[in-house]
Amino acid sequence: MKDFNFYAPTRVVFGCESEEKLPGLIKQYGGTRVLVHYGGGSARRSGLLDKVEKMLGDAGISFVELGGVVPNPLLSKVREGIALCQRENVDFILAVGGGSVIDSSKAIGYGVGYQGDVWDFWDGKAVPQSCLPIGVMLTIPAAGSEMSSSCVITNDDGMLKRGVNSDLSRCKFAIMNPERTYTLPAYQTAAGATDIMMHTMERYFSKYEDAMLTDAIAEALLRTVIEATPVVLHQPEDYKHRAAIMWASSLSHNDLTECGTEKDFACHKLEHELSGMFGVTHGAGLAAIWGSWARYVLDKHSARFEKFARNVMGVEGATKGIEAVEQFFKSIGMPISIPELVGRKVTNEEIDALVDKCSRGGKMNIGAMEVLTPDDMKKIYQKANI
Ligand code: NZQ
Ligand code: ZN
Repeated sequence: MKDFNFYAPTRVVFGCESEEKLPGLIKQYGGTRVLVHYGGGSARRSGLLDKVEKMLGDAGISFVELGGVVPNPLLSKVREGIALCQRENVDFILAVGGGSVIDSSKAIGYGVGYQGDVWDFWDGKAVPQSCLPIGVMLTIPAAGSEMSSSCVITNDDGMLKRGVNSDLSRCKFAIMNPERTYTLPAYQTAAGATDIMMHTMERYFSKYEDAMLTDAIAEALLRTVIEATPVVLHQPEDYKHRAAIMWASSLSHNDLTECGTEKDFACHKLEHELSGMFGVTHGAGLAAIWGSWARYVLDKHSARFEKFARNVMGVEGATKGIEAVEQFFKSIGMPISIPELVGRKVTNEEIDALVDKCSRGGKMNIGAMEVLTPDDMKKIYQKANI
């Protein structure tokens, strides 16, 4: 078991009455001039933004707004947000949405107090030294950004998708009302569930095999998501199962399932290049790549895959466990290959470009349980491309 240092400072305010707590929470964390940041329109259509505006107005909290964050959020929008916050003396960011809006908020938060170009943080030229305080009203359980230290941004110039990790960006609070997820399209529900599972699995598949409690938490979390997702796909307004998925989203990526294990995240790195290049949904990209990664690394880690098969998928045998996961992904409408993900086979040149980006020009390996070289990355993309 690996030594660990667990830090999860985000206040979670959960349930169907949670939204009413918003003005008090913003005041508690020092917000006096707020940027309300949101996406492409779902929060307006659901009435959530109107409610937020009214609550802030009634509480005498002044605010400006910036919408238009796209899935796989863009650096150009981040720059727009930084300029707006500087001009308007914003001292608090409220993210109303999912991982894309939260990550855009984190990036704006880093940039406001920084003299240089904000992309420096993703380029490895600088390390964030400050971040504006951020609060979240979560509308999609998926990325887990509401409790994570991670911020994933795509640079429109070259469509480079990169992550930066810093505790500075951990959200002060996350308001989670499962009822807000009733309007999610089935595809986003399923892709979100896949992402939640993958945040857990990319920590479970670790060379540290004796973190008993962490393993048990991870297995229970995975079984819960596997049970709840088909239910909400058939009954979108099932509160109990929506709530289970929403809570799993946060617990899968707040490092709880990493206590005593080690983050692998090779599939995430491989996927980020796919969603950066093809604009696909992150969770779907993970489903498309996982089976190929699993079969590629299976031989050296079969005991771990056998435990996973037995305790999570309820089958005996490492390969049977991998097949069961793929079967589950298919059953909820997720792709299990790159052609299913992007609608065609990608070309050899595109695979070379994916590997080049993922390995930072051939200079970087990925993975932890099994370290992958650029050559390994290429073989996994090729395996997934049939
Ligand atoms: O833009 P709007 O109109 O709001 O629509 C969104 C968007 O199209 C829609 N949506 C959200 N809530 C809804 C809703 N539609 C109807 N009803 C609702 N209640 O769903 C779509 C996807 O939203 P998005 O925020 O992009 O989803 P997600 O939370 O999956 O975030 C994905 C981004 O997070 C990154 C991903 O790479 C991707 O860029 N990740 C961030 C992580 C982190 N910061 O810790 C970790 C993850 O591994 C991931 O990489
Ligand atoms: Zn993810």
